[in-house]
Formats: sequence, structure tokens, C-alpha cells
Amino acid sequence: MTNKQKIFRTQVGIVGGGPAGLMLSHLLAKSGIDSIVLEQRSYQEIYETHRAGILEPGSVRMLIDTGVADRVLTDGVRHEGVSFRFDGENHRLDFVDLVGQAVWVYPQTEVWKDLADVRAREGGDIRFLTRVTSIADVTTTPSIHVRDHEGRSGQVRCEIVVGADGSKGLCKKIVPKEHRTDYFHRYPFAWFAIMVESLPSANELIYTHSDHGFALISQRTESLQRLYFQCDRDEDPAIWSDDRIWTELRRRMAGTDGFELQGGPIVEKNVLGFNSYVREPMRYGRMFLAGDGAHVVPPTGAKGLNLALADVKVLHRALESFFQSGSEDLLNEYSDRALERVWRAQNFSYWMTVILHRYPDMDAFQRRRQRADLHARFDSRAGRTLLAESYTGWPAHELVGV
Ligand code: DHB
Repeated sequence: MTNKQKIFRTQVGIVGGGPAGLMLSHLLAKSGIDSIVLEQRSYQEIYETHRAGILEPGSVRMLIDTGVADRVLTDGVRHEGVSFRFDGENHRLDFVDLVGQAVWVYPQTEVWKDLADVRAREGGDIRFLTRVTSIADVTTTPSIHVRDHEGRSGQVRCEIVVGADGSKGLCKKIVPKEHRTDYFHRYPFAWFAIMVESLPSANELIYTHSDHGFALISQRTESLQRLYFQCDRDEDPAIWSDDRIWTELRRRMAGTDGFELQGGPIVEKNVLGFNSYVREPMRYGRMFLAGDGAHVVPPTGAKGLNLALADVKVLHRALESFFQSGSEDLLNEYSDRALERVWRAQNFSYWMTVILHRYPDMDAFQRRRQRADLHARFDSRAGRTLLAESYTGWPAHELVGV
């Protein structure tokens, strides 16, 4: 018996079925452009991975405009500000007052589920448990070689490949060295993340600077809360008892204002390492990179998903123009346009991270300087406005292509 490979044809072969890949296939379908999404994980595996929970107003608008916002508007919670806690007191950024915007607390996994469900309802070609083994002829007539979970191999022949395959993805690796620059920054700490069954400790997020390290109070629902605190990169969550976790969090949240944490059963514990990374350009031949497939940010500020959606918005417009008119002008501009926002978000996420965390080798001078930096920004309306603009995403008119 010959082992004949199945060949599938489509206009856009999308590697990766995370939020970027699914949103792109959804937008392309609306423009009458055919795509196939190839995802190595199962639906369940992706859905069960926790991620950050903040949506910029531009991301929410995108979900509304494309008909994927049924649940974000009912189950998501609009937050009109966040607090930074330093010197034992909360300092609030009032987004509405400063920039006329708000953010939404709605977990990324739920955004992903909404997208996956809409693609399933509308008959989108999303193939879970399908691993991409190689990509050939990416500068001419691309073909993506795949293997499904039963070991059957096949090929997807397409005009355009989109690499939305996350930080460990294959797509960015196939670009020859002389055609790429990789920017990388490593942070010498990680986040200890917990999910707690309790009432919320606060109505809004609190990003905390303390002599004992960073902490973040976030929320999920009235009875489930998401909390984070800085830890070592090699920390083992299993050896942390609930008591030890609460003691550490209370130490970091201590202050003069009587703030109290709501305790409760800790139902999940994880350690999340992170880096900053950018690939330039976000294109090679007929392959375009998007989302974590092209760049990763540290979690401080929750920009990851928002950046992925912003990439996809620019890429969709370029692909629509290409398939409708044959013009490659917007495709040629994609990388520069996307990178403009990516680097702003990198800078903001980096600043949030370095100003709020305690570095292992940090001396008293550096800790004191961090507090001076925070005070200088929060004592000035101009400083608070810049932070609010960065946190809520930059105004659309300022950035080409968004
Ligand atoms: C959450 C995560 C973040 O990294 C952040 O900056 C804000 C909120 C969250 O999971 O809720």
C-alpha cells in the first residue's frame, strides 16, 4: 500500500490556533478569504491554560465589531482605573478622567473560547491535534507539512503562511539567520500565580511595589480571585503551603491605609517565567508572523493578547487588499506597522516590570530610586496620563495601521 499524502489547498495557511490565529481566520472569513488553521494542542488543553485577564478598549471594540462580544460584555467587568501601591499606599490611575477610556477584566482563555466557538459555528476549518512538521517553499509557493494525532501526514498548499504559533513556534525558526534580527531580554525572577476562592480584596487591580518584591491583586469573579507575587525563576510551587503564601502576600501588601487581603482556599498554584523578545522583521517571503509567534512581553501590564489582536487587525487589512486587488503594498508595510506598537508595548511592559520588581542584586539606592520614579509619575497629571494611555493601549489615531 502506498502512503499517499493528502493535499489541502487554501489561500492562507495559519499555523497556530491561539487567539491570533483564530481571530485572523474569523476576519478572513468575513472578507471571503479561505484559511485553514493548524493547531497541535487539543481544544481542551488550550482552554484549560490560564492567561492574563485584561483587555484594552481597542481589543474589546474589535470583538464587538466582529460579532464575538456576547460574553465579554455580559461576563467581563469594566474597570475604570487601576492602582499602583508603593510606600504602603494605593495611588490610583483614573482612566476615564485621564484618557476617557476603560479596560475590561475578562480572561484570555474566554476570549479564545469565544473565538473557537464562533469559528466552529460558522464552519471554519480549524484542525486541532495537528502538528506542523516543516514548511517548504516559503518564499515562492508555500506548503505546510503536517501530521495529525493518528500519525497521518498531509500538506497544506497556500499562497500565504501566517506564523501565529506562539513563543516556541516553528515558523520563526525557519527564517534564515541573515534575514532576521532577534531582540531578547531575560528577567531574573518569575511570578507565583494563585487562584483563590474568596471575595475580591479590591474592586480594581493593584500593582504593588514593596521592599519584599512585587505583588498583583487581580480578579476573576465575585468568588474567584487571581493573585500574583514575584518569586525566583526556579521556585517549586509544591513546597509553598497556603500559610506561607498568605504570609508572603500580606508582607508585600502591608501599609498605612489598613488594606486587608481576603484569604480563602488556594485552588491553583503555578510559577510563570517570562522574557521580552522581538523578531524583526515580522515577515519572510510569503510568511507573516503574528502575536507571540513574533514577540513576547513580560506579563506586567497584560499586553500579550492585546498586541496579538493588534497585529492581526493590521495583517487582515493587508491580506484583504492583497487578495482583492493583488496589491502587495500593505503586506510590504505590515512588519513596520505592527512593530511600531510592539516596541511601545515592549517598553511599557519592561518599565512596569523593572520599576515594580525587586532585583536580586538591588541595593538600597536602587530601591529608593524606584520609589522616586513612581512618585514623580503619580504626582504629575502628565505622568499619570502617559501611564493611562499606555495601560489602555495607545489612541488609535496615533498609530498608523490601527
Ligand atoms: C492579570 C495579569 C497580568 O499580567 C496583569 O498585568 C493584570 C492582570 C490577570 O491575570 O488578571
